[in-house]
Amino acid sequence: MLNNDHLNKSEIKKRLLEKLNTISGNQADQESQIMISYSAKKENYIDVKDSEIDKDLINKILKERIKGKPLAKIINEKGFWKNIFYSDDYTLDPRADSEILVEQILNDCFKIKKKFNFLDLCCGTGCLGISIIDELENSFCDFIDISKKALNACKKNIIKFEKQKNSKLFHSDLFENYPINRLKNIDIIVCNPPYIPTSNYLNLNNETLYDPRISLDGGELGIDYYIKIIDHLINVKFKGSLYFEIDPIITENMYKYLLVKGIKIDYKKVDYLSLDRLIKITLPNNN
Ligand SMILES: C[S@@+](CC[C@H](N)C(=O)[O-])C[C@H]1O[C@@H](n2cnc3c(N)ncnc32)[C@H](O)[C@@H]1O
Repeated sequence: MLNNDHLNKSEIKKRLLEKLNTISGNQADQESQIMISYSAKKENYIDVKDSEIDKDLINKILKERIKGKPLAKIINEKGFWKNIFYSDDYTLDPRADSEILVEQILNDCFKIKKKFNFLDLCCGTGCLGISIIDELENSFCDFIDISKKALNACKKNIIKFEKQKNSKLFHSDLFENYPINRLKNIDIIVCNPPYIPTSNYLNLNNETLYDPRISLDGGELGIDYYIKIIDHLINVKFKGSLYFEIDPIITENMYKYLLVKGIKIDYKKVDYLSLDRLIKITLPNNN
């Protein structure tokens, strides 16, 4: 722990790194910077002055972190894309892997000049939809989640990033309470559904298990949500584009299902670790 010695920012960081190396692995450097900037109420480590660092607060955070609680769950914050999002016990902490969805959707949208309507389905913190509309002027996003508490977190982020005029929240089991008329006006659905096969769920590492089960468990093969979503969208003849987060753990079963349904994959993308992470698909009624 940090003691009462007078320590400057880089000395504190060095001490934190010593403590975090075993628990946080290759994230230790980033986590030590986050702890220091959080304690100083600054968004960036570089802006922190020595006098602003709250060592008592860092000690408290470190104590929890050493017990294995993820940093984001201790400080209720997680950096994603270009912002820091509120996250809590009821939300999946935003993952860097998911940023490829934002990057790719923005790439596709920048090619067309229009006002887009998005739907962030299974929104959690809202990190996907909010990051997208933050970069596309005049665009609008609906957010759906089955968890009222996750929607509360999403609302906090919408307020934090001043997107109240460009967003609407829906408490719904997938499309159950979502007006069909709104769906007709959606250009792009972005969705990172729960996709861990149930049998793999309990073998997840302890830190992942801090995220709510409802955000992770995707049924027997991990593809229950994709099937329900796609079947519904085919039924209602959805005309827009569909971007899903995927994972190598489910790709084989997912591709089999898409083949059987005659659904075309427009393209796939890999994440920073070269793992399958995104598919864009076109539904049969769009061909
Ligand atoms: C993997 S998390 C994704 C959160 C966020 N979009 C992200 O990428 O960080 C899945 C989210 O789906 C929500 N969810 C689970 N079942 C749902 C359902 N039947 N209808 C709507 N949302 C659901 C969970 O509450 C959780 O917030």
